[in-house]
Amino acid sequence: MIRKYTYGNPIETDAVVEKKETQTGSLPYFSVEKTETVKFSYIMDPADVVYGLGENVRGINKRGWLYESRNADEPNHREDRHSLYASHNFLLIDGKDHFGVFIDYPGILTFDIGYTKLNELVITPREADLDVYIIEGESKLDIVKQFRQMIGRSYIAPKWAFGYQQSRWSYMDEEEIRDIAKQHRDRKIPLDAIYLDIDYMERYKDFTVNQETFPNFAEFVKEMKDQNIHLVPIIDAGVKVEAGYQTYEEGVANNYFCKNVKGEDFVAGVWPGDVHFPDFLNPDARKWFGHSYQFLLDQGIEGFWNDMNEPATFYTRERIDEMMEDASNREWDLDYFLDFKDKVSVIANNPEDYKKMFHNMNGERISHEKVHNLFGYNMTRAAGEAFEELCPDKRILMFSRSSYTGMHRYGGIWTGDNLSWWQHILLNIKMMPSLNMMGILYTGADMGGFGADATEDLVMRWMEFALVVPLMRNHSALDTRRQEVFRFENVDAFRKLVELRYGLIPYLYSEYMKAVLYNDMYFKPLSFVYTEDPFVSQVEDQLMVGESLMIAPVYTQNAAGRYVYLPEEMMMLRMRGLHDYECRKMEKGHHYVEADLDQVLLFLRPDHLLVLGEAAQSVAQLNTEEFKVIGFVREKAEYVLYDDDGYGKDYENCSNYTTITVDKTGTWKTEGGKELNLQIELYDTTGKRI
Ligand code: GLC
Repeated sequence: MIRKYTYGNPIETDAVVEKKETQTGSLPYFSVEKTETVKFSYIMDPADVVYGLGENVRGINKRGWLYESRNADEPNHREDRHSLYASHNFLLIDGKDHFGVFIDYPGILTFDIGYTKLNELVITPREADLDVYIIEGESKLDIVKQFRQMIGRSYIAPKWAFGYQQSRWSYMDEEEIRDIAKQHRDRKIPLDAIYLDIDYMERYKDFTVNQETFPNFAEFVKEMKDQNIHLVPIIDAGVKVEAGYQTYEEGVANNYFCKNVKGEDFVAGVWPGDVHFPDFLNPDARKWFGHSYQFLLDQGIEGFWNDMNEPATFYTRERIDEMMEDASNREWDLDYFLDFKDKVSVIANNPEDYKKMFHNMNGERISHEKVHNLFGYNMTRAAGEAFEELCPDKRILMFSRSSYTGMHRYGGIWTGDNLSWWQHILLNIKMMPSLNMMGILYTGADMGGFGADATEDLVMRWMEFALVVPLMRNHSALDTRRQEVFRFENVDAFRKLVELRYGLIPYLYSEYMKAVLYNDMYFKPLSFVYTEDPFVSQVEDQLMVGESLMIAPVYTQNAAGRYVYLPEEMMMLRMRGLHDYECRKMEKGHHYVEADLDQVLLFLRPDHLLVLGEAAQSVAQLNTEEFKVIGFVREKAEYVLYDDDGYGKDYENCSNYTTITVDKTGTWKTEGGKELNLQIELYDTTGKRI
C-alpha cells in the first residue's frame, strides 16, 4: 500500500508514473516539525536497518552518516563525502517497523541517519514543497516492488551491452581504436564495445566528429560493427559557445539555453571552454536536444553515455573575474594566500553559481537551485524520448552520470569517477543493490578504477566482481597507467575470466530482464532473500545475483581468500573460467575460502539451476540454444530462462520464456519458449556428482 502526503507546492518531477491521491491525515511513522522548512524525524531501534539512497557513499545499511541529495561532480568517492552524482530519495526501514519512504523533491535534501543522534533519522528538505510517499508491504522486496511499480518500468539495454566493453579517456583517433579492437581480437579476448570519450569530437562540441582524426566516421563505425564491436560516443551536457556551430546557433536562436540573472544565456566553463547548458526542463529544448542525437544514429551509432550533467561547472567567468580583481587589490601575505587557495578550491561546481542559473519550466522562470537534481535526469530523458520517436523498434544503449528517480526509465547509470583503489571495489559491491532498489538495473562502476594507477591484481579482482555486473566496462582516465587487460602479463587469466562472463550471459541477461519486467532486483542484499536469518543484515560484501547465485568477491590487496557467510547449504563454484572450476558443497555458516588471484567465488543455491553457455567473441555470436545446466538438486529444480533477440522490444512474447526442469536423477525437460539442447551437470545433497 502506498500513501502520498503533500507539503506546500511541490514542483512536478515526473518521478512517479502511477499517480496517487494526496492523503489528508498525518504522516505515519514520522514526527513532523515545521521549522523555516519542515523536518521529518523517526526514532530507530538499535537493530533497525536502513536501506536505500541508491548512488551514495558508505554501506548497504545507511545508518551512521549524514547524506545529502545534491548531485555533484564528485571525483572523490570518500567516506567523508555526503553525496555523489545522483539523488535517489528512497529509504527502506526494516526493524520494529517495515516501510519505505520516498521523498519526491528536486532540491537539496539531507538524510541524517544516526549522524547527529545515533537513534534518530531526520529528513530535511531545503524548502517545504514536496511529496512524501509511505510504502508498506509484506516484505522488503514487496516494498521495493511497489515503489518500482509506482515509478515505472526500468530502461532496457540491448543485449550486446552485456558484453565486455573497453573505454579510456584519450583514445584519440581511428588508428588507436582499431588497434584496441585488434589487440582484443588477436588474443581472443571477447569484446562488444569500445567507447569514444570527448576526443572524438571537434573541439569537444556535442554532435560533431573530428574530421582529421575520424575522417570517415560512418565507414569506421561500420568497420567496427562488422567485427561486432559497437562504438559508444560520449555526449556532454554543455554546448560550446562558438559562432557558426550548429547546436550552439540553434540553441541561442530558439532560447533553449538556461539563463543568467539578467536573462542572457548562462555561461560556465567545461571541457570545451565556455558553454551554455540546454534547458532540459523545458520540453521544447528537451525535444530539440534529444533529436540532435540523430546525427550520430545516422552514422550507425547504437549507444551513448551522457556526462557532466550534474551539471559540472569548472568555472564561471564572474567568479574568476571577482577573484582576480580581489587578488590584484590585496597585499599577498600568508593569510591572504590561504584565503586565495580556499577561493580557488571552490571555483568548480560552486552552489552559489547554480543560484544564478534559471530554467523555463512551462513558461515559469525557476532558479536552478530549486531543481538542481533534475538536470542529468532530463538530459537522459531528452535522449530517451527522442529515441522512442527516431528508432521506436530498437533499443539504444544509454547511461548517464547524474540522475534522479524517474531517469531509470530512460537509461542506466555508471557510478562516475572512482579510483583504482581496493576500497572502491567494495564500494562498487555495496552500491549495486541500493541502485537496484531505485530501478537502476543497467549499471556498473568503472572497472579497474578511473583515476589513479591500476595494478594487474586490482584489475583482475575487480573483474571477478564486474563479471556479474550488467555494465562491465573497463574505463580509465587520461594520464593514468593503461589498464586494458591485454597490457598485463597474465592475459590468459583475463581471457578466461572474460570468457566466463560470456558463458554467464544467458543467466545474467535472463535475470536482468526478469528483474526489469517484474520490478525485481537483480542484485539483492542477502537479507532480502534470507529474511529469517538474523545475521545476514550484517553481510555487506556478498550479494545475491539473480535467483540462483550468490557472489563473494575478493576485494583486498594480496588476499588469498576471504571469509564467506553461507545462509544455507550451497554449492561453491570456484571458477577460473568456463571449463576450469571446482564444485564443492558447503554447509550453512561461516567459512574461510581460498581463492587464487584468478579465481571467482560463486555459490549456487540448493534446488536452483545455473545456465551456462559457451563463450564467444561477442554477444551476437553466442549460441542461444545449447547450454550446460549446473544443478544442486534435492528433489527438483526449475528455472525460467528468459531470452529474446536482444535488440527489439517484444518483451512480453511468451516464446521468450523457457522453463527448464531438472529432477534429482538428472532427467530434464523444457516447456514453452525454445527447444534447447542441454547438458546437465548435477550434484546431489551430499555434493556428489550424479
Ligand atoms: C568525466 C567522466 C569520465 C570521462 C571524463 C572525460 O570525468 O566522468 O568518465 O572520461 O569526464 O570526458
